[in-house]
Amino acid sequence: MKCGKTFVELNKAIHDRTTFDCGSVELNTFLQRHALRHLKVGVSKTMILPALERLSNQKYPICSFYTVVPSSIQRETLPQNLSKSLPHYPVPVFLIAQLAVNKKVQGQQLGKITLIKALEFLWQVNQQMHAYAVVVDCINELVEKFYQKYGFQYLHKKHGKIRMFLPMKTVGQLFEDRE
Ligand SMILES: CC(C)(COP(=O)(O)OP(=O)(O)OC[C@H]1O[C@@H](n2cnc3c(N)ncnc32)[C@H](O)[C@@H]1OP(=O)(O)O)[C@@H](O)C(=O)NCCC(=O)NCCS
Repeated sequence: MKCGKTFVELNKAIHDRTTFDCGSVELNTFLQRHALRHLKVGVSKTMILPALERLSNQKYPICSFYTVVPSSIQRETLPQNLSKSLPHYPVPVFLIAQLAVNKKVQGQQLGKITLIKALEFLWQVNQQMHAYAVVVDCINELVEKFYQKYGFQYLHKKHGKIRMFLPMKTVGQLFEDRE
């Protein structure tokens, strides 16, 4: 499967959700059943990277996707050196609620590219409405290692998932030179 270069918003008329398999039932089900409805009602945004060639149903398979939502975390969950300068309110963050790569193209740096694209998107949103950090909930310790590689730090464990964060300041260092 050859993948395009541009992430676009999920569109059921153009993108084939049924053939997406990343190896996680939870993430597959989200993309196949919930992502579009969440987009329509305005509770999350799902961006996908389409493949270059269409299937027989004329739709494009999905190489990878990410879903982002505004969220907040408790100030007390942050390390003390960071939390001490923040007000005593829930801290606004952006949550990468879902991120996955089709099994057919895993191990080809697409996870890294998808994460960078998600961070770039959130950095642009941050120009209009600030958030303190980007957080992600990892489904297992292997995924935790993936995010650790890109600077995410452990926050806490919630509902069996490992929550990690990356300060928006750090995200900015990745993209501010390009503006
Ligand atoms: C986790 C996932 C997104 C990684 O995508 P991928 O395209 O296979 O990974 P990449 O090829 O971009 O890997 C980039 C780097 O991360 C490393 N890496 C990839 N998966 C990793 C993992 N699970 N643990 C540790 N490192 C990992 C790679 O070795 C590579 O390192 P390198 O640049 O030094 O060679 C993908 O395997 C996936 O979708 N898994 C199932 C769904 C899932 O768990 N999503 C996360 C939701 S919390």
